[in-house]
Amino acid sequence: MAKFEKANSVGEWLDQRLNIKMLNRVLMTEYWIPKDINFLWAMGMVLAFTFSMLLISGIFLLMYYKPDVNMAFDSVNYTIMQEVAYGWLFRHIHGVGASVVFLIIYIHMFTGIYYGSYKRGREMIWLSGMLLFVLFSAEAFSGYMLPWGQMSYWAAYVITNIFGGIPFIGDELVVWIRGNFYVADSTLTRFFMLHVLLIPLAILGAIGLHFYSLRIPHVNNQKGEEIDFEEESGKYLAGRKKQSKVIPFWPVFIAKDVFVLSIFLVFFFYLVFYHYDFAMDPVNFDPANGLKTPPHIYPEWYFLWSYEVLRGFFFDIGPMKASDIGLAAFGFAQIIFALLPWLDRSPTVAPANQRPYFRCWFWTMMVVLVILTIFGKLPPTGTNAWVGFFSSITFILLFLILPVVTKAEAKKVASNKEGE
Ligand code: HEM
Repeated sequence: MAKFEKANSVGEWLDQRLNIKMLNRVLMTEYWIPKDINFLWAMGMVLAFTFSMLLISGIFLLMYYKPDVNMAFDSVNYTIMQEVAYGWLFRHIHGVGASVVFLIIYIHMFTGIYYGSYKRGREMIWLSGMLLFVLFSAEAFSGYMLPWGQMSYWAAYVITNIFGGIPFIGDELVVWIRGNFYVADSTLTRFFMLHVLLIPLAILGAIGLHFYSLRIPHVNNQKGEEIDFEEESGKYLAGRKKQSKVIPFWPVFIAKDVFVLSIFLVFFFYLVFYHYDFAMDPVNFDPANGLKTPPHIYPEWYFLWSYEVLRGFFFDIGPMKASDIGLAAFGFAQIIFALLPWLDRSPTVAPANQRPYFRCWFWTMMVVLVILTIFGKLPPTGTNAWVGFFSSITFILLFLILPVVTKAEAKKVASNKEGE
């Protein structure tokens, strides 16, 4: 056994048993971050904080929520909103948090794409991030069901129905997911379990993996410069802080994080107190009714782009049925972002504005995603249906041509270097 001596402080006592000084160095005071980064690199911390707010407000809601089709709607709209002290506040924090977390996830994700932060060495950061995206999507979808309003019911109906399109096992799979032949009490209770237990646990594990995957490659920087972290941290520790290209996470970088986080919180609580309704669909204030289909069924804003890809293919093409093509396109949209590190064939790590071909690709993708999001909310008739169709095709084509575009870029860079 190790040798234990009388400790002179609680810190020393803990250090002898848990080596906390070393842990503090590894995770905080000697965890190195490049100097050359901007406020967009604070989004990861903003996400971690927003997730904590979702967890805490969710625990309070859980004390009064009833996962039963006869009681769920009233437990939310009556008990929590009107009877419980500050129940409305926790519901607003939870509802606004669920929506805003996607806004920040998208900013974080597209920052990564813009700066090429998924390239060689950083693939695991990207993949664990994509895993988080999928888990957050499942968490949001399962949570949306819980108030058991009209949109909760019909969104659950439409989304679980999608699985019916999978060849051979589709019909049985839908019944297995719902726990019944239609969306029923069994569906609500299992989605409740997923929402409050299994998916949050998986998210916590995935956040751990995401943070851990940052350790060896470190975060990227604004110019995509390859930094020798050992050498630069040596300069910092030797007191040559100005010459060093890095700073420690604690206390230097965290101060910048907290500054960005404070601005975010002002915006967040402005929404919570004055505009919480943006995160809540008015149709969902009508109790679920399986006999009354709402005129338009659409998901929350953050799913609209992929929903539009699903329904963009509204006519049969040869022997292929429209619904099957839509389903295949939807499946494609779900996985294709995860493959970016391998679809981008250019080894250059640099912001998109310094990569002319990639810059065009990136901004076209942004425009297509915005169009898909806007049209995902509109009824898919007349011109809307055609816009949805062409945008969905463009979305798919953009990913298919990415390897070609980036290979051409890599060739151009190589020939420019030869010419120098
Ligand atoms: C709740 C979810 C998430 C949390 C808490 C989180 C947290 C973080 C943190 C703290 C960092 C380091 C600082 C920074 O660059 O902001 C980071 C980096 C990164 N994250 Fe996430 N993240 C999440 C989701 C995602 C998603 C959905 C993606 C996209 C697929 C992603 C991709 C990345 C990438 C590529 C980096 C490296 C950035 C760089 O090297 O410059 N993350 N994340």
